Amino acid sequence: MAFPDERPRRLRRTPALRRLVAETTLTPDDLVAPLFVAEGHREPHPITSLPGHFQHTVDSLRREVRELVAREVRSIILFGIPATKDEFGTGAYDDNGIVQVALRALRDEFGDEIVLMADLCLDEYTSHGHCGVVTADGRVDNDATLELYARAAVAQANAGAQITAPSGMMDGQVAAIRRGLDGEGHHDTVILAYAAKYASALYGPFREAVGVEIVGGGDRKTYQQDPANRREALREARADVEQGADIIMVKPAMTYLDIVSDLRRELDVPLCAYHVSGEYAMVQAAAAQGWIDGPAVAREQLLAVRRAGADFVLTYFAKDLAESL
Ligand code: PBG
Repeated sequence: MAFPDERPRRLRRTPALRRLVAETTLTPDDLVAPLFVAEGHREPHPITSLPGHFQHTVDSLRREVRELVAREVRSIILFGIPATKDEFGTGAYDDNGIVQVALRALRDEFGDEIVLMADLCLDEYTSHGHCGVVTADGRVDNDATLELYARAAVAQANAGAQITAPSGMMDGQVAAIRRGLDGEGHHDTVILAYAAKYASALYGPFREAVGVEIVGGGDRKTYQQDPANRREALREARADVEQGADIIMVKPAMTYLDIVSDLRRELDVPLCAYHVSGEYAMVQAAAAQGWIDGPAVAREQLLAVRRAGADFVLTYFAKDLAESL
């Protein structure tokens, strides 16, 4: 062997040494738990394709958050399932919409002990299942949608959300939401922009979880990004930061680590990634067959997201993993 003798294995000899030189860490502080709350349920309903997850009642949601806090996961993102849907997704911006009701309950119980995020979109609330207002000829109307997003952000902030997270991929949504929030005095409400959100096939279990079906077998390809594009993500993210995004997100995670890495290098705002429902479901399904060690694969995947440059990760594994970290 050549001199000086390079022997990387020296640094791998003991667990303590490996921890000392580890470049990346994964702790409960790096995890955000996505949670679902449904209007009108008496009991939590299990979500078949997201084992371990439920459409919660407000009560069971509070219990779940207590368990998360006990495991030191202090950030959650809420999604709502309304009892009725309509063309304009009214439940998203109604002060008595299910997410607003749940936010108030969580704010009253947990205050600033946790970070309360609310996903901001219309698809859970619209009868047609699109993320925006649909015109008579079936197009998603960008600018008509912005006004409703701004109203939803204000309703969420009024109810106690510290972070609003627009996921609809309308152009100009961050600016419209910032203007709406500031207009109502919500200068401290943080905007976490789903900046690079791809039209992915990995959202299937989520759509079961929230009961969303796009009319006529439609898709979201006119507003979500094309998985073929890498540079475009940087343009999208830059635009969001210029419009006032405080934090940006890449979604999904594992198939878009190049995007995470690009955005980390090019932008200096906090960056996160969403390890989405399909990513969780694939690991759980293989683990249930005994084909992989589920928790080990989950840990490896989330560590990879951190290594690529994400400051934190939204993940359905948050509760289970937090205990073992
Ligand atoms: C849109 C939204 C979706 C997800 C989060 N916000 C679904 C979609 O774009 O169709 C998916 C999250 C997941 O799959 O875990 N409101």
